[in-house]
Amino acid sequence: MKNSIILISGASGEIGENLIDYFSNIEKRKIIAIDINKPKNQSNIFKFIKGSILNTEILNKINEEYVIEEIYHLAAVLSTTAEQNKKLAQNVNIDGTNNLFNLALSQNLKNNIITKFFFPSSIAVYNVKKNYTIPVSENKFCNPKTTYGQHKLFCENLGIAFDKYGNNQNFKIDFRSIRFPGIISINSMPSGGTSDYAPEMIHSAIKNKNYSCFVSEKSRLPFIVMPDAIEAIVKIMTTPKKKLKNNIYNITSFSPSVKDFLKTIQKKLPEFKINYVIDKMREDIVNQWPNFIDDKNAKNDWKWNPKYDLESAFNNYIFKNLEN
Ligand code: SER
Repeated sequence: MKNSIILISGASGEIGENLIDYFSNIEKRKIIAIDINKPKNQSNIFKFIKGSILNTEILNKINEEYVIEEIYHLAAVLSTTAEQNKKLAQNVNIDGTNNLFNLALSQNLKNNIITKFFFPSSIAVYNVKKNYTIPVSENKFCNPKTTYGQHKLFCENLGIAFDKYGNNQNFKIDFRSIRFPGIISINSMPSGGTSDYAPEMIHSAIKNKNYSCFVSEKSRLPFIVMPDAIEAIVKIMTTPKKKLKNNIYNITSFSPSVKDFLKTIQKKLPEFKINYVIDKMREDIVNQWPNFIDDKNAKNDWKWNPKYDLESAFNNYIFKNLEN
């Protein structure tokens, strides 16, 4: 249809920018992007709207004008900021997500389509004992203490309900969600997250700067690199619905400790050093999140298969441009 679009919220954030790049390089999609900040590059976007997902006037206008085939709802307040500013987090993470659910449900009423809705969830939905090393599957330990984890879990459940049962008028969405581990990207930086120590460390090393780490050297979380994250989003969104046994999937690739990261970096950049200035709140968050997660459901149902493990992530992605 002529006025069919895909809508990306949080378009100027890390995942947003990389996803828009992907769509413009590989697939041509008519993208409407919304964010409170301007994206670095607008050339691949059909229409950029500088505004908030809390502004229902903006969303109503999009609803009136377009057929929204897919929504990628990437706007969020990440875990560290959410803990520091719970009110803002509640507004963006809960109310904002609810506004986009309502937009998708309105599309079902107005255009008689079931909008595909991608929601990035997180390992923050888990709350495990410190140093718990058994890979955690989707239905275990979902009892988050952090504000961010609670918000993600709440929105997951709302999304599942709208997918399975619809709203009070039986309008539905096609809800698909990935619980991301930490993501490492070489062309962007996260802000306000807790897994940020890894990308921060790597970006410092590449710039020949030392790094002051806010968690201890034993801290360990699961990670993937951005190209795998983007591929995962595209894969789950293009898999036929009947193959998806669940709405929510873990994905992971490697789980190094801070010390493992340091050693890997120093193999290439032996001068690189870190010191530790522990932020107790942030370290507490890391300690609640699993060291390892189990992603066999994603592997089975939609053929998730990360291209990069720890070694190839560094050799073929992170350090790739250093030689040039
Ligand atoms: N990477 C995010 C954060 O640290 C978790 O999803 O907040």
